[in-house]
Amino acid sequence: MTNWIIEKLNAKIHDRESFCSSSDVLNFYLKTRANQEQEKNLNITYVATIPSHLLKPIIGYYTLSSSSLRRAEMPTFLQKGVPQTYDIPTILIGRLAVDKQHEQQGVGRFLLKNAFLTIIESATIAGVKCISVNAKDESAIKFYEKFGFTKLADVNQLVLSLDTLLKAKM
Ligand SMILES: CC(C)(COP(=O)(O)OP(=O)(O)OC[C@H]1O[C@@H](n2cnc3c(N)ncnc32)[C@H](O)[C@@H]1OP(=O)(O)O)[C@@H](O)C(=O)NCCC(=O)NCCS
Repeated sequence: MTNWIIEKLNAKIHDRESFCSSSDVLNFYLKTRANQEQEKNLNITYVATIPSHLLKPIIGYYTLSSSSLRRAEMPTFLQKGVPQTYDIPTILIGRLAVDKQHEQQGVGRFLLKNAFLTIIESATIAGVKCISVNAKDESAIKFYEKFGFTKLADVNQLVLSLDTLLKAKM
């Protein structure tokens, strides 16, 4: 049993400086841009942390924003039933990373599951056809494919239909 919890990033209580995943870009984003982008309503950052009265450590994080994808770029199963002129409304998991010291312990799965629950909830107040993710490299693509995502042609972006997610046992 773990004592991990997920909270919306709060620069006053979460220790962004100590976070160190294997991606410099994703570390840099958390330290320098995540809070600003949250204040500008561009992205919301959710952090996995451990309850503490001191500055809370960040063991992983993900970001969410609303987005849309061109219908023609979607796999056929996601185009079905969607009018030709429509774009596909999605929630984008733009970034997801786990601190190196906590890799291979299920934090990535924990973050993704939490993102799925948050997205399912958001789909009750606005149309969301699928979840999209940006994958930084081949290894990240493999990680997301493990959870049922389908890679789009020519870009490092993957999608998972909300219908599929709702039917899946989580
Ligand atoms: C990819 C990453 C998020 C995985 O986090 P993690 O906490 O180690 O993953 P988990 O321990 O929750 O693993 C969940 C499952 O995914 C698998 N997995 C983990 N990393 C994987 C990878 N790179 N490729 C394929 N499968 C992977 C695990 O083996 C596990 O499978 P299992 O349950 O069948 O054993 C982490 O390595 C990371 O932050 N990498 C750098 C940033 C990055 O690549 N982010 C991805 C989006 S750009």
